[in-house]
Amino acid sequence: MNNQEIIISNNLHQELQQIIERNNPDKIYLLTDEHTHKLCKPQLAALSFLKDVNEIIIGAGDAHKTLSTLGQVWTVLSTSGATRHSLLINLGGGMVTDLGGFAAATFKRGIKYINIPTTLLSMVDAAVGGKTGINFNGLKNEIGVFAPACTVIIDTNFLRSLSADNIFSGYAEMLKHGLISTEEHWRELLLFDTDNIDYDALKKLVAQSVAIKEDVVAKDPYERGIRKALNLGHTVGHAFESLALALNQPLLHGYAVAWGIVCELYLSFLKTGFPKDKMRQTIQFIKENYGVFSIDCKQYDMLFEYMLHDKKNVSGIINFTLLEDIGSIKINQTADKETIFEMLDFYRECMGL
Ligand code: GLY
Repeated sequence: MNNQEIIISNNLHQELQQIIERNNPDKIYLLTDEHTHKLCKPQLAALSFLKDVNEIIIGAGDAHKTLSTLGQVWTVLSTSGATRHSLLINLGGGMVTDLGGFAAATFKRGIKYINIPTTLLSMVDAAVGGKTGINFNGLKNEIGVFAPACTVIIDTNFLRSLSADNIFSGYAEMLKHGLISTEEHWRELLLFDTDNIDYDALKKLVAQSVAIKEDVVAKDPYERGIRKALNLGHTVGHAFESLALALNQPLLHGYAVAWGIVCELYLSFLKTGFPKDKMRQTIQFIKENYGVFSIDCKQYDMLFEYMLHDKKNVSGIINFTLLEDIGSIKINQTADKETIFEMLDFYRECMGL
């Protein structure tokens, strides 16, 4: 897989202008959703090329990450004469960059695309690393390809108008990057003042976080080995997300990941000797900033079933990424049902349930 160029933006207009000049596309398409069309596109208004751009506006939210929306994008590209030399710019959160990336990767066997992520979650995770796709048959990201954007421009100014919930949602993935990298970065993340956000300091943390992900992806772009490090917190996190969805109380992804990290650090403590004090400090940060997702023991079987059916598993064995210590990653770990239930008991106890 080609490397993506990643720019931590200092001047979005200038950088975008340069990238467009360098690529010299015959037509430019801008993919937005209803929200980014209204809230983020005006921030690009000074760009002269925007006058001639073909904008494709899709519905916002995961419910629109569908084959039908994808068809809508392909239809516009096809009927308006897009060619292999056209360029698609995805302006939005993970839903827009995932779907837009997939549309670009498949249209005429692949056209170039640029991601301009507008949420913290998409800046530090979805827009970086070349995973594209849509939901299908009731399953998240069931259809997709690995296809990196030619450039990802990360402009943290978009974060200034993001809700606190969405900041915390993205921050959970940053915390995960801290846990899989260095003690220094992990500590910096725990010490960050989340009550009074210093956006310049956040920009530096975002840059570090993206560099950690880039490094992992460069080593294993197709997730055959070490890229599974990025799944820390996600085996349980996805089960929490699925349970919450079944209860009609959908969770923001990063919140589910934060609570998944609580569980998987305990599993790391039990199975791979993760230090108790670092587990406690991380859990304290999560409790203070994310609150708690309430579960009771009657839901353990259902959570276990969700973990069993996670698409990361092979041969019915639940796959976890665990840690021996900060930055010391153990992929392809497993746990039996009894241990998983013990982990859920621990979660309820430490979260005060
Ligand atoms: N979101 C995890 C990955 O990109 O591999």
